[in-house]
Amino acid sequence: MSISKTAPKVLLSADKIQNRLAELGEELNSHYKALVTESQPLVVICVLKGAFMFCSDLVKHLDFPCQIEFVRLSSYGDARTTSGAVTPVDPLNLVLPDLTGRHVLVVEDIVDTGLTAHFFMSHLKDSHNVKSMALAALLDKKAKRKQIVRIDYCAFDIEDVFVIGYGLDDSGLCRNLPYVGIVE
Ligand code: IMP
Ligand code: MG
Repeated sequence: MSISKTAPKVLLSADKIQNRLAELGEELNSHYKALVTESQPLVVICVLKGAFMFCSDLVKHLDFPCQIEFVRLSSYGDARTTSGAVTPVDPLNLVLPDLTGRHVLVVEDIVDTGLTAHFFMSHLKDSHNVKSMALAALLDKKAKRKQIVRIDYCAFDIEDVFVIGYGLDDSGLCRNLPYVGIVE
């Protein structure tokens, strides 16, 4: 039986996600509260498109000053397996503010092969003189990892399944689902 894209099997319910984000928010608050100020807020970098929902819900829990920025990276096209090469979709999409001396938190939807997160964290390390950088990911799918990536704030570990919803897409669809589901 095929599972319809509009009614996928629930892997992580909306409630489960929101409860976990509250926990992650507390962890972030206890780590960053003493480190950032209004003149030097935490720079939260949301990696589009997939992290838009995770990031927007996560930052609602932060009770210290933060500045939210966006980059768009892509390694997929419309296929379900990574093309292997991570490229900024358009060079303009990698234009970030001056991050010199700043605490930076990168927010990703999922770390799969690790190529995207590795590419971007290396870019930050090599090209921006940040004070600290950390990675938050909604999902950690370790089965096909090709690059070692340290995930500082991970909401959920998942098996090697293709998931959609809560920002994650299948050929552009299903990002709007409030939960994470599985498609065949
Ligand atoms: P990477 O393989 O770790 O570089 O992940 C690249 C990107 O692929 C992620 O940021 C997601 O946007 C996407 N991706 C990986 N696994 C899935 C999945 O199961 N569903 C939807 N998108 C995925
Ligand atoms: Mg992504």
